[in-house]
Amino acid sequence: MRGEMIPSAVALKSKDYHAKGHNSANFRLQYSKMHGRVVIEPIASQLLSGFLKEVALTQLAVLVDTNTRQQCYPLIQSVLPSHHIIEVAAGEEHKNLATCTQIWQQLTDLQFDRHGLVIVIGGGVLGDMGGFCAATYKRGINFILMPTTLLAQVDASVGGKLGIDFNNFKNHIGVFQEPVATLISTQFLATLPHRELRSGFAEIVKHCLIADKSKWEEIAQKDLSDQNWQELIAHSVQIKQQITQADPREKGLRKTLNFGHTLGHAIETFSLGTDHRLFHGEAIAIGMIMESFIAQQKNLITANELEHISQYLISIFGKVHAPFDQNRIIALTMQDKKNKGSKVLMALPQGIGKAIWDVEVSDKEMVEAMGYYQRI
Ligand SMILES: NC(=O)c1ccc[n+]([C@@H]2O[C@H](COP(=O)([O-])OP(=O)(O)OC[C@H]3O[C@@H](n4cnc5c(N)ncnc54)[C@H](O)[C@@H]3O)[C@@H](O)[C@H]2O)c1
Ligand SMILES: [Zn+2]
Repeated sequence: MRGEMIPSAVALKSKDYHAKGHNSANFRLQYSKMHGRVVIEPIASQLLSGFLKEVALTQLAVLVDTNTRQQCYPLIQSVLPSHHIIEVAAGEEHKNLATCTQIWQQLTDLQFDRHGLVIVIGGGVLGDMGGFCAATYKRGINFILMPTTLLAQVDASVGGKLGIDFNNFKNHIGVFQEPVATLISTQFLATLPHRELRSGFAEIVKHCLIADKSKWEEIAQKDLSDQNWQELIAHSVQIKQQITQADPREKGLRKTLNFGHTLGHAIETFSLGTDHRLFHGEAIAIGMIMESFIAQQKNLITANELEHISQYLISIFGKVHAPFDQNRIIALTMQDKKNKGSKVLMALPQGIGKAIWDVEVSDKEMVEAMGYYQRI
């Protein structure tokens, strides 16, 4: 069944939102008004200390990976009460049961009780895995996420999806569980490698294309270095919150967040077996170009809109010239979790700022979309 159109995102009003300056007197006021419990503030230590004043703590564990321990933990260390650090190896290859076992073991060794709190300081890998460990330890203890990559701030931080990879299946084991709060500081982005920052930007572009035309027009006039991250993170979080709150279990509307991801995921997976490994956002940028082409072919967007999307994404992400194995990529799209039976179903823009889902797409259309990407 073909889904309905989603409404354009509402205009951002700062009073409705939690992005704010760092006036700590305001913090409690804002905090009590929070819905969705996502707070965005520039200075990480102020953000966290404001939060910690509001909670009664027995035990506190801080989960970091090797990089975030070096780059991010020092920014908040001074405001933390007595705590234990749990450090794990960085990278998607460690988002697995073996690392969970280490985390659960350390919580057990610390005799962590059900009133303890885990603060996860890391990117999407750590947020998904740390949240999963907390949500399952003793049937669930509280955790907060402090996402430290742009991708984690604008995407993984909202929607309550937690989990790990299993036997090469991505996010195969997991649960839905919201953190007590998600605390987002743009300060962490200062140490993030450029390629990681750019990768997260793809999700921001996606949010604009599926839900906010005027924001799309605004960001598309700027290069990566001119973007206002504080504002864009707030905007993306708001869009993702609206969508996930309307459809927490991904029965309909939430599928629009998969725009760019059917072909994008397949290309990402394909690239992992080549010398041109793509970051998630890089593959999603390609997926958005290809899927916009399919949308244009189906008269959902105009040729001008397609050209604008393609030109802008290429200007930011460059063009990948490595050959795509089309048959293999199409075979990979068949494994997409969102398909029904043997049909490939996509979320596609319908005009800019709106999207529809469960649109059936044929192999031929995907081949043509890959051809389009190679021609531009
Ligand atoms: N739960 C969701 O809804 C959701 C949504 C999107 C993605 N994800 C998951 O997110 C994961 C990808 O997340 P990611 O891109 O953040 O990767 P990541 O967590 O592996 O972080 C990327 C790298 O940057 C390092 N790093 C993190 N923050 C840093 C900082 N501030 N300064 C310097 N280095 C830093 C990390 O140690 C790591 O090496 C995937 O596993 C994906 O499945 C989940
Ligand atoms: Zn994504």
